[in-house]
Amino acid sequence: MKYTLNLGAKEFSSDTLVLVSAFEKTVEAKGKKKESKAIVNTHWSKELKASFENIKTAADFTGAATSTYTFHLENGTTVLVYGLGEKKEVTFEDLRNHSATIFKQLATTYKEVAIQLDGFTIKNKADESLNAIVEGISLADYKFDRHFKTQTPAKLTEITFDSAAKKTGLKKLQKTLDDTLVVTESINVGRNFVNEAPNILRSTTYAKEVLKDIKGTKGVKTKVLGRAELKKEKMGLFLSVNDGSAYEPQLVHLTYTPTKVTKNTKHIALVGKGLVFDTGGYSLKPGGSMVNMKFDMAGSATVYSAFRAVAKLGLDVKVTCILGMTDNAVNEHATMPDAIVKARNGLSVEILNTDAEGRLVLADCLDYASDLKPDAIIDSATLTGAVLVSLGNQVCGIMGNNQKLTDTLLKSAKNTDEYMWQLPIIKEFHDDMKSPVADLKNIGGSRFGGSSKAAAFLSNFVKNDIPWAHLDIAGIGDSQGHKSYCPTKGASGLIVRTLVDYLKKA
Ligand code: BES
Ligand code: ZN
Ligand code: ZN
Repeated sequence: MKYTLNLGAKEFSSDTLVLVSAFEKTVEAKGKKKESKAIVNTHWSKELKASFENIKTAADFTGAATSTYTFHLENGTTVLVYGLGEKKEVTFEDLRNHSATIFKQLATTYKEVAIQLDGFTIKNKADESLNAIVEGISLADYKFDRHFKTQTPAKLTEITFDSAAKKTGLKKLQKTLDDTLVVTESINVGRNFVNEAPNILRSTTYAKEVLKDIKGTKGVKTKVLGRAELKKEKMGLFLSVNDGSAYEPQLVHLTYTPTKVTKNTKHIALVGKGLVFDTGGYSLKPGGSMVNMKFDMAGSATVYSAFRAVAKLGLDVKVTCILGMTDNAVNEHATMPDAIVKARNGLSVEILNTDAEGRLVLADCLDYASDLKPDAIIDSATLTGAVLVSLGNQVCGIMGNNQKLTDTLLKSAKNTDEYMWQLPIIKEFHDDMKSPVADLKNIGGSRFGGSSKAAAFLSNFVKNDIPWAHLDIAGIGDSQGHKSYCPTKGASGLIVRTLVDYLKKA
């Protein structure tokens, strides 16, 4: 898709389809209690208004949210009026959803579209409004169709934003547009990894594809640890998950260092669960629950997308990204329940359920990340089914050891309109993760509070009181069709924008 900004516009830049907005106003009819709705289109040009008002049925159009009205100008241009509802009620998230909806309506019919940006600007914030609109369109402009014999690309390939604003504002607005596209492109790269089939995206191919994707990005260094290196690192927990696999475990270690580093430059470590498939291992998942477990690497894709965006934006923050990749499969070497395994940090873990494998991989990765002495560690994982029970399947669970970090991330989630909610880690949950035969066990004594108990387990592997937050994305990671800019089925790409917002301010 080609996006162009056209400031100081006197005319529409397209004579095929022009998109304008209208707002709705509720007015009290004289002498009656009943309220009636009227269209507000004071921001339209004289000519546009005249053409519109000339059409008799136009009087019935109220500008209610998501309502549309189409008419034609004398020169043949089609004008689509999109209702945004009451102006003061419209949020940036509404703009994201509306623009995604509009994109999907137009994508198969029109080659180019001109959007009258000023009518879609809310709260007098041109940058934020453009950001939300472009996010909505570019995230809706995503299809995982690489496995079909024939692809049908969207007809729509050119979008121009016309604005009457002075040309002097172009540089700033252009940067907003460019930066937004870097983030959404990174989200779509992550979505592709999550959606890829597990017989194609093995741990080894995943690692290779990540390196290929990030290659040539300024300030980025890469390293991959395979089985031999993980043995040297004494990552017993990570290796135990991989024992039943035909493929090597891969720890992908990426570092982004900004051009200028001062003593104030923060260093944030991101850690991601990269289970390319989770059968459950010997504690085998029932058939129905196993389907879609290709998405068990969404945590790693989420932190990779955020890392990629930060590096490509050249932000002033040092970021380390640790991706723990393997499948959880069964063969004659697979770890059996009752096994006792030693972690990288020396703690022993009794593995009572091989399906609670994500925390084992993350544990060694968190310990490894701690040794880099970052200012904070944030991990992201499809860790527990329990998070769907406690928070619903649209909310990301956040847990951690540092309220300030948690609050900062919750704020970033709010800024980016992503749902995130904190769950507690109480002393009793820590106690429940203690084993009678080892330092820890990998599941609690009851299924209650499963997400928090998993987090309690993880907290044992964060060294030196480094501020740490754990994001459980098992619910929000896929099938978020309630957002118009997310596919109904498949990777959502949510939480990346939260992380980028956080890293921008770190
Ligand atoms: N990958 C799953 C978690 C999951 C479940 C993600 C459903 C998305 C949807 C994880 O490895 C797992 O199996 N967790 C177990 C833990 C249990 C054995 C303590 C679970 O949630 O059932
Ligand atoms: Zn599992
Ligand atoms: Zn898993």
